[in-house]
Amino acid sequence: MQSLQQKASEWSGVHPSDAFAIDETNLFEALGGIQPFIDLSTNFYNRVYEDDEEWFHSIFANSVKEDAIRNQYEFFVQRMGGPPLYSERKGHPALIGRHRPFPVTHAAAERWLHHMQLALDSVAQIDPDSKVKMMNFFRHTAFFLVAGDELKNQRQGVACKHAASKPSSG
Ligand code: HEM
Repeated sequence: MQSLQQKASEWSGVHPSDAFAIDETNLFEALGGIQPFIDLSTNFYNRVYEDDEEWFHSIFANSVKEDAIRNQYEFFVQRMGGPPLYSERKGHPALIGRHRPFPVTHAAAERWLHHMQLALDSVAQIDPDSKVKMMNFFRHTAFFLVAGDELKNQRQGVACKHAASKPSSG
């Protein structure tokens, strides 16, 4: 059976060595600290919350935009060589688990990535080479989450079948 990482590589079209090229340099230091990450996540979530595509926008309906921005940039800072702001506040990122309530489909991943590409394009402090590295990491991670979501749905399907085939006790 294919691992989630293998599915992520296949579906995203991003080889793991490209996805994790963000680890070759300390991007947090190279980009000059926290501000570009704050700008990126703010720009990204402004786009998400203004998205005309109701099906996508509604995935975020129960989240407060300011909290979502902070959650995201603190994670990015920590993952890209900065201080562990996210884990100090919230514990292990456990991204698959934390995305469990949401329908992380292939279409949702593409829409998320569409907004992220536009957000990256609009942050001038991030140089083109770093943008490519970050986008490869985002793309691979997005499809890693899609693979996690499909596994969740399969397990729920199995659980439902078991429940349906159980003889009733009454
Ligand atoms: C594939 C499509 C994706 C969808 C539909 C999606 C959806 C969501 C939603 C609805 C939230 C809750 C917002 C909040 O309150 O923080 C969230 C949180 C988060 N997402 Fe995603 N996401 C996707 C991809 C990604 C990717 C690619 C990353 C990382 C590279 C990521 C990292 C995070 C983080 C760190 C949080 C905060 C989790 C928490 O602290 O609870 N997401 N996402």
